[in-house]
Amino acid sequence: MPDSKRRKARASAPANQLWGGRYAAGPAAVMTAINASIDVDRRLWREDIQGSLAHVAMLARQGIVRPADAARITRGLKKVAAEIEVGRFAFSTALEDIHMNVEARLAELIGKPAGRLHTARSRNDQVATDLALWLRAACARADAMIRELQRALVAQAEAHAGTIMPGYTHLQPAQPVTFGHHMLAYVEMLGRDRGRFADAARRGNRSPLGAAALAGTSFPIDRHATAKALGFDGPTDNSLDSVASRDFGLEFLAACSICSTHLSRLAEELVIWTNPLFGFVSLSDAFTTGSSIMPQKRNPDAAELVRGKAGATLGAFVRLTMILKGLPLTYGKDMQDDKPAIFEAADAIELSLAAMAGMIADMKANPARMRAAAGGGFSTATDLADWLVRAAGLPFREAHHVTGRLVRLAEERGCDLPDLPLAAMRAIDKRITKDVLGVLGVDNSVRSRRSHGGTAPASVLRAARAARRKWL
Ligand code: ARG
Repeated sequence: MPDSKRRKARASAPANQLWGGRYAAGPAAVMTAINASIDVDRRLWREDIQGSLAHVAMLARQGIVRPADAARITRGLKKVAAEIEVGRFAFSTALEDIHMNVEARLAELIGKPAGRLHTARSRNDQVATDLALWLRAACARADAMIRELQRALVAQAEAHAGTIMPGYTHLQPAQPVTFGHHMLAYVEMLGRDRGRFADAARRGNRSPLGAAALAGTSFPIDRHATAKALGFDGPTDNSLDSVASRDFGLEFLAACSICSTHLSRLAEELVIWTNPLFGFVSLSDAFTTGSSIMPQKRNPDAAELVRGKAGATLGAFVRLTMILKGLPLTYGKDMQDDKPAIFEAADAIELSLAAMAGMIADMKANPARMRAAAGGGFSTATDLADWLVRAAGLPFREAHHVTGRLVRLAEERGCDLPDLPLAAMRAIDKRITKDVLGVLGVDNSVRSRRSHGGTAPASVLRAARAARRKWL
């Protein structure tokens, strides 16, 4: 059908069987198209049925539904779950969403008593409950996957606690560090990411179920009981807030976005380090791809895609924020679009974490290349300045100036700092003695950085052990 026709078409479908009492006719085809969310929210089927099971058990206990009906509903819901599980469930767009798809099938299976399930609840509290349950599990999955990545990073850190590489600021050689230290920097960031997912899960772990449409219900329900049955810490305390709020989703998306940002930085470093000009690491065959035209190629596609997926997670955060911004209380159908954002971000973060864990676990470092680069760019200039302060008693600013002149001298001679003859150094400042030679090499430089959180190999090993205890 051409678009113009479709827009005007009135569906020949009858009015909705679940809410169509006041309707004489069914929706326009385009109404169904814009209204239906089943293609997206079918992912909530487990949570939806879990919520319904807890709800009907409570209705029976409270004497709101007869035990025999509750038993029929319970058996029916389990049958529906089994059908969906094995892929023998026909999802229907006409039935809009997962809630009505499940309920309509329940009615087919058990007949009239199915209609009692929706007593004292609404799709508004139902969908908020489903999503809260889903997000709690998503936070747990993210946590486990971040831990796997941390495990791979810590293993690399232990193997390379003493592997010297250039440390950068502005991507210019700054001071030598160890590769292990660099790996552990990401373990720290990821640890905080785990904290953010844990916070989101904890704050979001309240049950909206029983808030009903928006105002609560006149039935004598027990919201504490359903909350407990579903593993929540308790019910939410304001019915309007319960159906209107999605900040539990926003917090999840914020955690995803920040975590993706960290993964994207690591991904970018892999792209840089695998470039032959650096050659610091190589990725395995399993995590690189060739080119269909250039036989020599070995592209870090997975790293690039992880870098790109940061766009999906932050995009999802912005999308949901924009949906909620300016939305009057309580529920608005705009909120149905929370789910594509949340699912896309969850998929992106999980795929990114899995790919990154694989890349890091397989990654081979090239210590010779790192070491060769580490001495370049006068990377021990700070050590020289520090020595002038410590051994020769200069104020740091003066030491900085003297070191600058030594760097220029080395630059003019086309050599590195450790290659300058002592006499040439003394010509610039008499206070320099042969003891300075001990601080100019990268090994001494790295070994001397024993301050808490510093890059000395012994400290890195200790930090790796501490990270194991704390995170793995
Ligand atoms: N599919 C809806 C959503 O995801 C469920 C809630 C619908 N509520 C309503 N009153 N139409 O938001």
